[in-house]
This record gives sequence, C-alpha cells and structure tokens, in this order.
Amino acid sequence: MKTTRIILALFCLVAISLVSCTQKKTAPASAQDIVPKPVSILQKEGNPVILTKKTVILYDQNFKDQAKYLKDQLAQQCGWTSLSLVENTPQTTDRQPESAIVLLSGGSSHSDTDKAEAYKLYTVDENSVIIEAPTIRGFINGIQSLLQLFPVENADEVAIQPVEIYDYPRFAYRGMHLDVVRHMFSVDFVKKYIDYLAFHKFNTLHWHLTDDQGWRIEMLSYPKLNSIGSWRNSTLIGHFFDEPVRYDPNRYGGFYTRSEVKDILKYAEVRGIMVIPEIDIPGHSRATIAAYPEFSTKPDTTWNVAYTWGMYNRQNNVLAPRPETFEFLKTVFGEVADLFPAPYLHIGGDECSKKWWKEDPFCQQFIKANGLKDEADIQTYIVNEVVKYVQNKGKIIIGWDEILEGELDPAAVIMSWRGEKGGISAAKRKHKAVMTPSSVMYFNRYQTKSKRDSLQIPGYIPLEVVYAYEPVPEALKKEGLKDYILGAQACVWTEYIPTEKDVEYMIFPRMTALSEVLWVSSEKKDFDDFKRRLKLNIIPRYNLWNSDYCRDYEEWTTARVKEGEQGVID
Ligand code: ACM
Repeated sequence: MKTTRIILALFCLVAISLVSCTQKKTAPASAQDIVPKPVSILQKEGNPVILTKKTVILYDQNFKDQAKYLKDQLAQQCGWTSLSLVENTPQTTDRQPESAIVLLSGGSSHSDTDKAEAYKLYTVDENSVIIEAPTIRGFINGIQSLLQLFPVENADEVAIQPVEIYDYPRFAYRGMHLDVVRHMFSVDFVKKYIDYLAFHKFNTLHWHLTDDQGWRIEMLSYPKLNSIGSWRNSTLIGHFFDEPVRYDPNRYGGFYTRSEVKDILKYAEVRGIMVIPEIDIPGHSRATIAAYPEFSTKPDTTWNVAYTWGMYNRQNNVLAPRPETFEFLKTVFGEVADLFPAPYLHIGGDECSKKWWKEDPFCQQFIKANGLKDEADIQTYIVNEVVKYVQNKGKIIIGWDEILEGELDPAAVIMSWRGEKGGISAAKRKHKAVMTPSSVMYFNRYQTKSKRDSLQIPGYIPLEVVYAYEPVPEALKKEGLKDYILGAQACVWTEYIPTEKDVEYMIFPRMTALSEVLWVSSEKKDFDDFKRRLKLNIIPRYNLWNSDYCRDYEEWTTARVKEGEQGVID
C-alpha cells in the first residue's frame, strides 16, 4: 500500500529540472551539519535533487497543517512564497510537478518501527525528497532536518545531495519551561518560543502560569483570580538581595484570555508541541490568596499580589486545607484540565513553607482530625486530593520533587529540580521523572560573567556544561532503572528576565546544546563538532528569526569557572 502510494506520488514527476540559472544556489549545509545530530545518515551516490520555487509539497491526508507549516518556513527562510500544496491522492497524478517534497504517512521502513517521533528523510531520483513519518511529531522533526538543508537566504533553486536519514529521539520528554508570571510575554512571543521548540525537535512547553506574583490565565469560575490576582502594584528593581531594595511602583500584570490560550494551543498542536500548564499549589499562592484570602491560613488578612521575589518561608502564605479551598482546587484544576489537551497537569508543590500551617490552630486541628503526622502530611493530603481531581479528568499530575515528601500516587511524575536526588528517589519508588536540576538546567543562571548576565541568580552554566549534561544518573543505570527518566527540561524563571530579547539571550545557544543532549545517545556527542554545526547552521537561524543570543559562548568556558561555582550536579 505504502509502496503504491510512493510510486503514485512520484510517477508524475518529470526527471528533468527546467530551472533558470540566475541566483543558482546550493545548500550550504549537508546532512552532517544538522543539529541535533541525526541517528543515521546514509550519503547516497548520484546527482542532487533540485528543488525550486515551483516545487510542489505533496502531503498525505491529515498532515495538511504540517505541509502548510513547511511552506511558511520556506517562505520565511528563502523567500519561496508560492509553493503549491497538493494532497497526495490518485488524482494528484494529473498535476505533473517538476519536483516535489512529499510528506508520506507511515511507519519507518527501518527495523525500529515503534518510534512514534521517528522520521525518515530520503531523496528519490533527482526530483523529490520524501519525509516519511507516522505522526505529526515525526513530520515536524523531519521538516526541521529538511529546513537545515536549505540556505538561509533567497535562492532560486536548492540542491539536496542524495541522502537517506533515519532519525528518532533518545528521550520521550524534551522540554523547555517558561515562567510568564514574574514577567509576562506577548502571545506572539509564546508562539515564537513554540517555534523555537519545534525547530530544536523538543516536544514540550511547560507553561508556568501562576505564582506569588500573578495569575496569568483567565478563569471563569473564580473571576477575582484575574481582576485582583493578575495584577501587582509594584515590582522589585534590581536584585532581591540588594540593600536597600527598590521598587518600580507601576502596576504590572495581565493574563492570557481563554481564546488566546486556545489560539496558542492550536499553534502548538500543528507543531507537535505538548503544552503542560502549571498551576502552582499549595505554596507560591500569594496571587490566589490576594484574590481569595479565605483560602489562606489567615483569612482576615488582606494579602497583596507579591511584588518582590524569593520569598520562600517568609511572606508567602500558603493554602489552608479548608473545605472551600478543596472546592476551589477541584473547580480550578477541572477548568484547566478541560482547556488543555495534554495528558499532564503540573501542580507545582515546590517551596511550600510549613510555618504557616504550624502557626494556624485550624491546621493543627486538621492534622489531629485526619490522623496526620505533621505539617508535611498536610502538603501530601492536599496534593493527593488534587491527584484525584485531575485523575477524574483523565490526566496525570507532574510536580516538583518536594511532592515526594509523602506517600504519593504512583502515576505522579516528578520534576527533579533540587539536584538529581529527587529524580533518583522517584525512579527507585517507580515514579517517572523529568530531570531539571537547577545547577545545570536553570537557564536563568548566568552563562557568562559579563555585565549582561550579572542580575541572574548565582550559578554559572556555560554552554559546555549544558552540552555535557547526562540526564540519566549513573546510580539508575547501575540499578536498571534508567527507563524511569523520561527526559530533561531547561527552566527559564523570569524574575530577572524582563523582556523577550532577554529570554532569547538566556536560552540561546544553551537550548540548542540541550536539543542535542536530549536527541542523541551520549557517546555520539562531540562538543567541537557541535560548535562547528552551531556556527554554520544554527546561528544564521537566530539571525533569521531576529532573535538575540549570547555571542560570547566560546569565551566563557568551564575552565573559566571559578571553583565551587561550576554547574556540576548537586
Ligand atoms: C523551583 O525552582 N522552585 C521549582
């Protein structure tokens, strides 16, 4: 069936390319230059495939959006604005295109056919390039490789050397996080960030939507979360540790409307990106209790949405385990679960100060009445209630590694941020885990010691350290538990990252290095070769996208890291 379709799709292609010789261009990059490095590349004998502005994109049913995505990318990258999109049906044979890019749905003919995100990219004769994949993600991954074989400039024609690439990721979870609370970014920028993810063959955006400093998603059920919780009256200037502290008194905030969220989710879906929303509870809840003080341990207090950072254990009152709080959690998580198609919901669970529960007579009574040991058990109680609500919606929870403090539903996934310990103990307790150790995977730590990075939180993570990161700890390899590590993610906390350009500066080129960490097996990594491909093939893309990036990544090496500040695993 598949072979028939290939033959059908190609039958119509005339082998002779009738192209003008003006501005004739050959792609500057070959398959050996792709980032992340493909699993297998077979360079074939023969003449190149010549693609032109008259090339047709033939797509199989169900993948029209991805064909359109490819067309738009080629328009942006080399000015090919008029490529035609044609569904690959028997009638297509009438059209007789000179050359084609064919998106062909199907499993790979390689022996590993269970790889849902795999793709095969191969040339046929001198007139077509086939991307064959079983899923949207497979096509998106294959399209990225093809785009890297095109020049980043206007061209009349492009020559693709005969090749067969078979490729799939090492890890199932390849994520980037974005905190839109401490600073909020436009819908267009969130989309641009999703484009960055797609280009780098990541598959997950972890969208940090609520925290002490704001509530950034429209809620129907509790409107004060937006009218009050989405706005703060002041914002810290400079560093949290500065003396004296200074504030910008301008009101700051906003939230993404439901229709904006839906628009972003549609955009992500076309690009094969899963969006996991995070609603951070039971700590990091100042925006919630500013709107609804009755959910705090001090209902009679007027809380404001926080305007400073780093308040763990100090001013950030937490949710109290009252009946109305549980009703709130059930409703809010239900609303979010209904809006987002991802199978996961992130419930935070980090840095929840126990001091407020200790001081509160109601909470002490709650401990006794429910046979709990201590305040840590209140956290577990709340988390497990939310697990139930979320499970009733058919979803799995993800939480920061603090949620391991109690007995936890085995389906919960752990994000290991306080080093790798959380991930290791999660795996030993048979929980899946995602590695985000802050010493390597927090891209809000500085990457150079130049002025531009000086406001960031301490901890030096140059490019080299990111590239060297191995997400599966030795301890788990030894015990045969490596498969509990789903993958890794870099986090971008935006206390000191106020603008979109600053976000780009902090993620590039470290995100590009992480893409290779998550894609290829560790023995295939080669930092010098990575830097060669980065320079040749990726930095021109940063420029194409008009994105900022750290230009001094070669200058700031591990060797320049002061001892004790190196981004080593905790
Ligand atoms: C975290 O950085 N508090 C997860």
